[in-house]
Amino acid sequence: MLDCYTLDGADQAIPLIPVTRHDLDAWLEGQPERVRHWVRDAGFTGKANSRLRLPGEDGRLQGVLLGVHEHGDAWAFGGAAAKLPVGSYRIDASWDDARLQRAAIAWGLGAYRYTRYKDSSREQARLVLSDAASVEAAEAVVASAWLVRDLINTPAEDMMPQDLAAAARDLAAAFGGEFHELVGEELLVENYPALHAVGRASVHVPRLIDLRWGTASHPRLTLVGKGVCFDSGGLDIKPAAGMRQMKKDMGGAAHVLGLARLIMARGLPVRLRVLIGAAENAIAGNAFRPGDVLRTRKGLTVEVDNTDAEGRLAICDALAESAADDPALVIDFATLTGAARVALGTEVAAFFTNSDEVAAGLMQASELEDDPIWRLPLHKPYRAELDSDIADLVNCASGPFGGAITAALFLQRFVARHTDWVHFDLMAWNLRARPGRPKGGEAMGLYAVYRYLEERFGKQEEA
Ligand code: BES
Ligand code: ZN
Ligand code: ZN
Repeated sequence: MLDCYTLDGADQAIPLIPVTRHDLDAWLEGQPERVRHWVRDAGFTGKANSRLRLPGEDGRLQGVLLGVHEHGDAWAFGGAAAKLPVGSYRIDASWDDARLQRAAIAWGLGAYRYTRYKDSSREQARLVLSDAASVEAAEAVVASAWLVRDLINTPAEDMMPQDLAAAARDLAAAFGGEFHELVGEELLVENYPALHAVGRASVHVPRLIDLRWGTASHPRLTLVGKGVCFDSGGLDIKPAAGMRQMKKDMGGAAHVLGLARLIMARGLPVRLRVLIGAAENAIAGNAFRPGDVLRTRKGLTVEVDNTDAEGRLAICDALAESAADDPALVIDFATLTGAARVALGTEVAAFFTNSDEVAAGLMQASELEDDPIWRLPLHKPYRAELDSDIADLVNCASGPFGGAITAALFLQRFVARHTDWVHFDLMAWNLRARPGRPKGGEAMGLYAVYRYLEERFGKQEEA
């Protein structure tokens, strides 16, 4: 069990009581005078994400008031996990089961710490949950999000294509999946030329990572991730400020591994395939160049306008391969463009899809999960921006506008037309801390997507 949860000691656990500004007076009315004075004198108003510890008659901690935005705002519990003193706590709210479960998950997300290089042996506050099934359900989500964050937060030196492959192999082993990979020159032999071109200048050779799991008769779901372990920009080198965060350019790969973990842990009845284009966009004498024409698995030729638009080249062969087993749904995740965060800011993940029905399902799930995503259009006329004089396509538009859209239109050329397809262009990184969402690597859109998948493909099968 994760350290942040326990099943023991519910009777001694300290209650966490969520209140809104609006609820506070009504709540106080039911309290002894001592508590009313304490709350008033402390100036506690129920402001969202504020906290107040309540003393008992014996002077010991008797409860904690948590300010929440509105009834059911689960994220506040994420803020509590990191801030409360060591001890056992329980949620004391008359919320429905789904909200209580989300609060338990938020707690776990807030308890995250990245400890690989800096030991933090401080003991953690624990949340007491009432039954093993809720712990299991919360842990599936929380451990998957922690995996995403750990993968992203790990510096490039320790998270190269071979390390991503090891993470995928471990995951396959843990859940009875099959792992396969193509390494270096094998990519040329097996016809993944664009991925090879992006990664060939690195001493850490590029890899196509391929994980399969689930019963063959179940509907097929394929996840594709951009695993650019470091994006220097290539010969079109990035300025220092733009390069600084580029260890996170495998954020898409981290998302598909995290989502795969969640799907496998919950036993979603799908036949899952995960494909990751893993490469370092490095600079060396053998790097691919602006003006080069690359061949791709699909057969389309691509003229390289800018070596920094490498993500779409790293995953276009995997997207083409996704058609091989004719899945019901393909979802790719990629830290693809700076333009997506210009459009939506860094905290709303952009998505594109060729299906209005899927878009509607995702938006509904996003709202229910409080996991913000927003659809951008696959505006066909912008395809003209990808015309090349000497090849089928250029890898990026020459103008500065609509960069997330033209990148998505580029990817669309590699996906089977009749297949439902979703493309996420995300930040995968929190620039600021919010309750349950510390600074650094972050899973974005993962909860919304998983909920949508559950709605579409059905919940855990009866044993
Ligand atoms: N990995 C970057 C995109 C990125 C940058 C995502 C910053 C999140 C934060 C991608 O490979 C890239 O460099 N894209 C270029 C494309 C351009 C050259 C057409 C971009 O967006 O500037
Ligand atoms: Zn780039
Ligand atoms: Zn990139």
